[in-house]
Amino acid sequence: MNTVTRILVTGGAGFIGSHYVRTLLADPAASVEVTVLDALTYAGDPAHLDAVRGDRRFAFVHGDVCDAELVGKVLSEHDEVVHFAAESHVDRSIAGAAPFVRTNVLGTQTLLDAALRGGVRTFVQVSTDEVYGSVDTGAWTEDAPLLPNSPYAASKAAADLMALAYHRTHGLDVRVTRCSNNYGPRQHPEKAVPLFTTRLLTGGRVPLYGDGSHVRDWLYVGDHVAGVELVRRRGRPGEVYHVGGGTELTNRQLVDFLLAACGADWSRVDHVADRKGHDRRYALDDSKIRAELGYRPRTDLATGLAATVAWYRDNRPWWEPLCGRADR
Ligand SMILES: NC(=O)c1ccc[n+]([C@@H]2O[C@H](COP(=O)([O-])OP(=O)(O)OC[C@H]3O[C@@H](n4cnc5c(N)ncnc54)[C@H](O)[C@@H]3O)[C@@H](O)[C@H]2O)c1
Repeated sequence: MNTVTRILVTGGAGFIGSHYVRTLLADPAASVEVTVLDALTYAGDPAHLDAVRGDRRFAFVHGDVCDAELVGKVLSEHDEVVHFAAESHVDRSIAGAAPFVRTNVLGTQTLLDAALRGGVRTFVQVSTDEVYGSVDTGAWTEDAPLLPNSPYAASKAAADLMALAYHRTHGLDVRVTRCSNNYGPRQHPEKAVPLFTTRLLTGGRVPLYGDGSHVRDWLYVGDHVAGVELVRRRGRPGEVYHVGGGTELTNRQLVDFLLAACGADWSRVDHVADRKGHDRRYALDDSKIRAELGYRPRTDLATGLAATVAWYRDNRPWWEPLCGRADR
């Protein structure tokens, strides 16, 4: 008999979570039922889920991952959890860390408790390379110590440790993914790639932190969700898996790409004061997920950025109101 897997996706109205949900349901024959639990903060948009709204395998619950009663009820009706919901913007965490501790730490613990009580089979905690802090040379492996620098990264590290503690203490099947910087369509314009792109498309100027020599690995959102899905289906309980993009760039090189894609030059770039506590370089060694689960990123940077810029060019009505919003 073909059994249906009931998957709860938290934060499924956000940038990465919605991409994951659309991908899961893209196969009409997939034996899954997907419920999105999302509080619809400034970062969530139900329109990201329009493509799946008519699918009878899809349901949406408007709610907060910190609401223990709601989470308990919803989780008792699901087999697996893929947990994306988070406060996700580093600059906001520098301005005020409280919502980050609440959603990222308390929210994760609330879900873990409910997963344990509700008999959830698998819990995938989606996390970030930022938990390791900066690395000058080489790349972090999954057993590297956590040395987060921003309040955002610290809250994600705390959530990861809590998730792994539920595995070690209670035997809950928890799997943690840590990925590099994502980019792609539908990312909120507060984040670097869409911020630069939307500024360039509207004739504005691009702010570049410090000397622009900070290094990040860039990962197309489609490759990230493919990595998360491999871990959900075939990862091992209690394990951490890195999901990398294989594209290390300085911020100057990233800006070069975006200027070319938008037909602009360096006269449009402003050098601004560096972000407080700005990590110089992030780098992940993702050989574990490649060897164990056959992961590899499929979208090269030029292709991914071209698709991303084209999407922002074609979808102004989505991002223009967000660029002017007071809560950015
Ligand atoms: N964007 C990146 O480059 C990146 C890199 C590494 C890891 N991550 C991680 O991936 C996950 C998803 O990131 P994203 O970029 O899609 O984030 P996002 O900010 O675009 O989306 C977050 C979603 O979570 C929802 N949410 C926030 N607080 C909530 C709460 N209390 N209860 C329920 N829902 C809530 C929001 O409404 C939104 O839909 C996060 O856990 C983030 O830490 C992101």
